[in-house]
Amino acid sequence: MQLLHTPADMQQWALAQRSRGIRLGCVPTMGCLHDGHLALVREAQTRADQVVVTIFVNPTQFGPHEDFHRYPRPLADDLARCRKAGVSAVFLPQPAQMYAADHSIYVVEEQLGNGLCGAARPGHFRGVCTVVAKLFNLTLPHVAIFGQKDYQQAAIIRRMVRDLDFPIEVVVAPIVREPDGLALSSRNRYLSTDERQRARGLSQALRLVRDAGETDAAAVCQRVQTLLTETYQLRVDYVAAVDGQTLQPVPSLQPGVAIILAAFAGTTRLIDNTLLGHPTDSAQGIPAP
Ligand code: PAF
Repeated sequence: MQLLHTPADMQQWALAQRSRGIRLGCVPTMGCLHDGHLALVREAQTRADQVVVTIFVNPTQFGPHEDFHRYPRPLADDLARCRKAGVSAVFLPQPAQMYAADHSIYVVEEQLGNGLCGAARPGHFRGVCTVVAKLFNLTLPHVAIFGQKDYQQAAIIRRMVRDLDFPIEVVVAPIVREPDGLALSSRNRYLSTDERQRARGLSQALRLVRDAGETDAAAVCQRVQTLLTETYQLRVDYVAAVDGQTLQPVPSLQPGVAIILAAFAGTTRLIDNTLLGHPTDSAQGIPAP
């Protein structure tokens, strides 16, 4: 497994592979890899000859009061997982190598990123788009894999690839869950035992949507809000029923509608979602409480 530390080394490696006719897959991550990331790697391996994992905690997508400095960075463990998973190369640059001190160009998406997590985290998707565009230019993949857990992020990256003509196929892989339904996330390790119990509320809320048989979006979102706050004592950031493509709010639930949630367990912000009627509708496998 190649370890590539600088943008120049990364790009050179990718160019060399491409010149030999090798199809490249990229899995962009911020490290602290879990089984959800490894599922993305496996997906990439079915679609490419060689897979690059990028590990970069991207400062430009964190707000001033967010967890950039304490974001977990278990690098040795991450590299061991990548090696075991048969990853061909890992790109692990430092912030100063990715962003010149006087960098002044950003990639800004102006529609899909306005609501939901974009409203709660101003500047977040500007940072995500900018770094993903840079990672695409450095890893030069034919295909890139993102997780559905970050539903809005995946929609925005697809839009960026379309609007900026990146010659890259974007694949969105299903959410991987703990046996009790909690979506895997690097931030789950922040949770205390009690918060971890209460964090089940997010996936239980999606289960409620699936089982409620109710189609009025406002009524369902209200029931979800009540479940999250009263039963699971989570602080809700938002509960939304949106068109799965445009991310605009919809009045009624039907196939193609995404239910997207964000809530805090203590100080940890958790997100989850399901796309109704989709084969990967992730609420399918969630067990009863
Ligand atoms: O989803 C993530 O881990 C990050 O937002 C990404 C796509 C790697 C960009 O930093």
